[in-house]
Amino acid sequence: MKAVILAGGSGTRLRPFTKIINKHLLPVGSYPMIYWPIKKLAQAGIQEILIVTNKEDIDLFNGIFGSGDELGVQLFYTIQKEKGSGIANALYCAKDFVSEKFVVLLGDNLFDDDLEPYIEDFKKANYGAKVLLKEVGNPERYGVAIVDDKNQRIKSIIEKPKNPESNFCVTGIYFYDNSVFDLIESLSPSERGELEITDLNNLYINRNELNYDILSGWWLDAGTHEALYNANKHFFEGE
Ligand code: G1P
Repeated sequence: MKAVILAGGSGTRLRPFTKIINKHLLPVGSYPMIYWPIKKLAQAGIQEILIVTNKEDIDLFNGIFGSGDELGVQLFYTIQKEKGSGIANALYCAKDFVSEKFVVLLGDNLFDDDLEPYIEDFKKANYGAKVLLKEVGNPERYGVAIVDDKNQRIKSIIEKPKNPESNFCVTGIYFYDNSVFDLIESLSPSERGELEITDLNNLYINRNELNYDILSGWWLDAGTHEALYNANKHFFEGE
């Protein structure tokens, strides 16, 4: 299975650093942030990884990680065509890279769980997509999943709700089949003018095709100063 890491965007919540450097290259432990999701994929046996990033940043990623040899993977790079146009739009840039089921990670999502069991599960699955949830104390910051306990399915996902109906955040760890690109083509921009990953996942829900699991270990979206500090603490303590 191949993987795609989305590492573009403007990282406004990490200014002023992100005025000059891509958020995913900021230090976490002894490495750039994105090293950790790459390592997780490598440990799960993923060989080919596409990094989608901004035009002005691509040489920096290539300069640090090159072909991926040191990490035991093959890295490929592509430009996110329209910066700031949403996660689903960035994902569309992977269309020519994948031809079957694949994994998508947001490059600022850091976690302890081993990805391999989820990947193996998805390989065999007859549904089209899977998301990983995590129970959090501040769900209003994220996409929030409303889970129907009886049917063990997600009824809907709401992006950054003011009054969240659950504490289940949808993490930036996604599994999709190849129909994802047709579904992205059918999306319209949200109020903030972006193609939202949450709208995409809701399309899978409408088709009864979205499965989920809940992460058991530590997880963090390192996209704010406080989270970046906590991520550093986690990795320095673990090293
Ligand atoms: C994005 C997604 C959100 C998800 C989060 C996970 O939000 O839009 O649904 O819960 O990543 O990290 P962002 O961090 O880009 O605001």
